[in-house]
Amino acid sequence: MSLDELKKQAAIQAVSLIENGMIVGLGTGSTARHAVNAIGQRMKDEGLSIIGVPTSSRTADQARSLGITLATLEEQPHLDMAIDGADEIELGTRNLIKGAGGALLQEKLVEISAKRLIIIADETKKVSKLGTRFAIPVEVVRFGWKGTQGRLEALGCEPVLRLGDDGKPYITDEQHFLLDCQFGQIDDAAALADKIKGIVGVIEHGLFIGMAERAIVATSAGVEELLPGA
Ligand code: A5P
Repeated sequence: MSLDELKKQAAIQAVSLIENGMIVGLGTGSTARHAVNAIGQRMKDEGLSIIGVPTSSRTADQARSLGITLATLEEQPHLDMAIDGADEIELGTRNLIKGAGGALLQEKLVEISAKRLIIIADETKKVSKLGTRFAIPVEVVRFGWKGTQGRLEALGCEPVLRLGDDGKPYITDEQHFLLDCQFGQIDDAAALADKIKGIVGVIEHGLFIGMAERAIVATSAGVEELLPGA
């Protein structure tokens, strides 16, 4: 089965948890895209009615095209559930790295406001320690970004300015730069998250600590759930 088919399976299972009338955070990325499509399908098939709070302009466009009613976080500050993908999921803790797709700030703001965050992924996202495959994306203000880069480097990483397809610095939905910080395998992700957040110029980072209630992971042998205590 292709990776994309696995992502779709995980997404469909997560979307089956949504109940009529819920306020749902809509994630960003290739896996979350399947979840938004699956919501659209349930609306057609069963008349499911929800309000979606998108985590990026891309997701908002997709949801609108499917006829999903949208609200901003200001209009709906308390969400029942959010469904999103991740770049890495740490086994045991369900701590995450997110933001390879560039949407981490709005994702974190929406998902911290949800009673339940359900992560969906294919099996390649599981790691024993965060930092195994991905750098941590750090969203920084553009003003004085080189100084911020230096302060991040002093934490023991190599921060690389993310570029867009046009070769120019990638600009987030909130008009900031992203520095991808490769730390290698991280022993204490919570402590590192605090250190990064304490740096002047940093807006937010892609470590999502203690946020995911569960991860629904599709493997070639079937769908598995990473739950608290597992
Ligand atoms: C968006 O910036 C990210 O946080 C995504 O949620 C994450 O990168 C997973 O994306 P894929 O589902 O495309 O792998």
